[in-house]
Amino acid sequence: MSQHPQTIAPHGGQLVNRVCTPQRRQEYLDRAEELPRVQIDDRAFSDLVLIAIGGFSPLTGFQEEKDYKCVVDDMRLANGLPWAIPITLPVSEEVANSLTEGDTVRLDDPSGRFVGVLELTQKYAADKQREALHVYRTNDEKHPGVAVIYKQGNINLAGPVWLLQRDPHPLFPKYQIDPAETRALFIDKGFKTVVGFQTRNPIHRAHEYIQKCALETVDGLLLNPLVGATKSDDIPAEVRMRCYEIILEHYYPKERVMLAIYPAAMRYAGPREAILHALVRKNYGCTHFIVGRDHAGVGDYYGTYDAQHIFDEFDRDELGITPMKFEHAFYCKRTGGMATAKTSPSLPEDRIHLSGTKVREMLRRGEMPPPEFSRPEVAAELVKAMKQPSEG
Ligand code: ADX
Repeated sequence: MSQHPQTIAPHGGQLVNRVCTPQRRQEYLDRAEELPRVQIDDRAFSDLVLIAIGGFSPLTGFQEEKDYKCVVDDMRLANGLPWAIPITLPVSEEVANSLTEGDTVRLDDPSGRFVGVLELTQKYAADKQREALHVYRTNDEKHPGVAVIYKQGNINLAGPVWLLQRDPHPLFPKYQIDPAETRALFIDKGFKTVVGFQTRNPIHRAHEYIQKCALETVDGLLLNPLVGATKSDDIPAEVRMRCYEIILEHYYPKERVMLAIYPAAMRYAGPREAILHALVRKNYGCTHFIVGRDHAGVGDYYGTYDAQHIFDEFDRDELGITPMKFEHAFYCKRTGGMATAKTSPSLPEDRIHLSGTKVREMLRRGEMPPPEFSRPEVAAELVKAMKQPSEG
C-alpha cells in the first residue's frame, strides 16, 4: 500500500496490509483440509481484521511474549513504540498442545468459516492477573473486560496472520471504509487535519457538542462508531448506526463529516483503551482524537478524566496523534445551550445530563429522552428500536 506524504504517518511508519492476494488465498484454500484448525471468537476475529486492514499497524500478527509483557507492564511494544492493550490469541492448553511452533494454522470464525491463517511462531502462558491489574486496573471479575480474559484459554498463540479476504460487512457495507481508504478520502477532500471520534453509544447532544467544538478547529470529522462485540446491555450497533444516519441527515455538514465503522470489540479498559483508540484512529488518518469524560469506561472503575491523564505519560511525538480533551458536557438551562463547567457558570441543578443506564430505562418504558439530551429524531428512533424485542 503506497503511503501519501500529505497524511499523518501510520503508527510505526507503514500501513500494514495482511489481506491475502488472490494467489495467496488460493494457496491456503488448496491446503484448507490439511491445516490444523483453531476456531476463534468474535473478539479475535475483530482483531484479525484490524491487523489485516492496518488499523492495528504496526502489528502484523498476534503478539509474542516479549511484546505482550512490555505492553502489559510498560504500555510499549518491545521495540519501544507505544501500545496500550495486548492483542493476543488465547486458546486452551488442549488446543495449544495440538499445535507446533512453525505450523501454518487455519483460523475459523465462530460459524466455522475459514477466514484467516496464523503462522505460529510461539505459544506462551498468559499472565491473566497481571494483565487484568495493569491493563484494566482491577482484577474484579465483574469488570466486563476482565471477565473476558478470565474466561479465555491460558495459552496465547502468536505469530503473523493473514486474512483470507476482506468481505463486505454484513450489516454496514456502505460504511466499511478501511484505513487505506479513509486516508485516500481525506487527501481527496483536501483535509490536512481530521479529528476522530470513538463511540459505543447512541449519539446524544453532548457527543454532538464535543464533536462540533472539535470540528471548529480542524478540517474534517471521522465518526467511527465501534461495531464489534459489546456487552449485552449496550445498545446494538444497528440501532446506533441508524441514529447516526438520522442525525447526519439533519444536523451535520455533509462535506466535512465521514461516517465509517470501527470493526473492533470493546474492551472497557478506560485509559488504556483510549490510547489504543487514538493510535488506531491515527492509522485511519486522523491527526486529532476526542477524549471526553470516562472514555471507554464502565461502572466506576476509572476516574472521570483518567483516560485524558494517561496521554500525559507519553511524549507528544511518539503518539503522533493529538488528543482533544473535553470536560463533561451537559445541557445548561442557565445559558440555554450545551456547555461544560469550563464554559458556563451553571450550578449542578441547571444541568441536564442523563446516564446511559437512565436512558436505557426510559427507552425500555417507551419514554423519549428529553430534547436537551437527545435530538428528537434520534430519540424517536431509539424508542422505536428498543420497543422491538427482535433488536436484542
Ligand atoms: S466510549 O466507551 O466509546 O468512550 P461513549 O460512546 O459514551 O463511550 O463516548 C464516546 C466519546 O464521547 C468518549 O470520548 C467519551 O469520553 C465522550 N463523552 C461521552 N459523553 C460525554 C459527555 N457528556 N461529556 C463529555 N464527553 C463525553
